Amino acid sequence: MSTTTEKQPAPSGTRVLPPLQIGPHTIETPVELAPMAGVTNRAFRTLCRENGGGLFVAEMVTSRALVEGHPETLRIVTFDEDESPRSAQVYGVDPATVGAAVRILAERELADHVDLNFGCPVPKVTRKGGGAVLPWKRDLFASIVTAAVEAARPFGVPVTVKMRKGIDDDHLTYLEAGLVAQDAGVAAVALHARTAADYYSGTADWSAIARLKETVRHVPVLGNGDIWSAEDAVRMVDETGCDGVVVGRGCQGRPWLFADLQAAFEGRADRVTPGLRHVAETIYRHGELMAGYFEDEGKGMRDLRKHMAWYLKGYAVGGDARRALAMVSTLEELRGHLDALDLDQPYPGADAEGPRGRAGSPKKPHLPYGWLDSRDLDADFEASLREAELSVSGG
Ligand SMILES: Cc1cc2nc3c(=O)[nH]c(=O)nc-3n(C[C@H](O)[C@H](O)[C@H](O)COP(=O)(O)O)c2cc1C
Repeated sequence: MSTTTEKQPAPSGTRVLPPLQIGPHTIETPVELAPMAGVTNRAFRTLCRENGGGLFVAEMVTSRALVEGHPETLRIVTFDEDESPRSAQVYGVDPATVGAAVRILAERELADHVDLNFGCPVPKVTRKGGGAVLPWKRDLFASIVTAAVEAARPFGVPVTVKMRKGIDDDHLTYLEAGLVAQDAGVAAVALHARTAADYYSGTADWSAIARLKETVRHVPVLGNGDIWSAEDAVRMVDETGCDGVVVGRGCQGRPWLFADLQAAFEGRADRVTPGLRHVAETIYRHGELMAGYFEDEGKGMRDLRKHMAWYLKGYAVGGDARRALAMVSTLEELRGHLDALDLDQPYPGADAEGPRGRAGSPKKPHLPYGWLDSRDLDADFEASLREAELSVSGG
């Protein structure tokens, strides 16, 4: 695939951060692809890995679905032969089920690293006490993390935790949860520096990442939220002292961000500035990978459709062409629509960069009645929590 790179002045040549150590795994470029349900499937991870280094986490699976062996769930935790470490993310609300799910992943050698998701802000999940509002119940949080670590330990599989700052600004949980996770034996903690109430709105509060880094002293702290460019990533490291960065929406339609990040973390100033021809080649490659992943060309193309607007952001592509691409059903059609574009366009600069993907506005979190009254779990909440896992689909 052709790559257009633009050399910028005087690279310092100094590594920005040392490699990231996640248990036994050394991640040379201390960058993680954030788990994103519906996005970070094997096809997208391959595309990102073809562009740069890092830790690439699969889409989340629920612990129950894993324990019950749902076929779609088992497909989500499949990896390329050369994917290393193979990172799976598990969401669960019950310590025994999470422990069983992690044991399945570790014992059957399905994954080399397990990340636990405590970041989901979706009302149907928080309403039952799951996702980003779960760490409020501190004993339950500790029990889930401990169950996961203990299930993984005999197999040498490291467990990490990904969380938000808390429920809202008056109910922050991340510092305490970071310490609890560290004591439970996790290999790293990652913070999406928003509360559940923030949802995906506004700007992430990187000062919270700095505070977590000051608090959690014995395991790496990863920062997450609003990294749209390699420069943002370097700035996050400078401002917070974090040991690695987690990149979510910023790589949607820009898998070459991983090349930029690798260059930046190695102290190089070169950045990928793709013309439309390069973007079109990447879309087609993504399409091929999707067809392979789903073992069904039509399904693969349907899943690819949502990526089109992200890929084309900033390029002069008319409405009809965009609509045709967003309705593509076969690889042949995809090739035809891409070839029909005015491919000789250069990189449009800032118009192709910046925020993309899910945003929205702050929302008062829906919580189980009485959830905030106590930091301990009672029997009513336990029943409601079981339902929280049934309604989750991403975070
Ligand atoms: C479509 C979508 C799906 C997501 N799914 C998950 C998920 O399954 N697990 C998780 O921990 N976070 C999930 N997230 C949150 C991201 O991992 C990340 O924490 C968040 O987007 C903030 O990072 P960013 O500003 O770089 O996008 C999701 C985000 C989006 C936009």
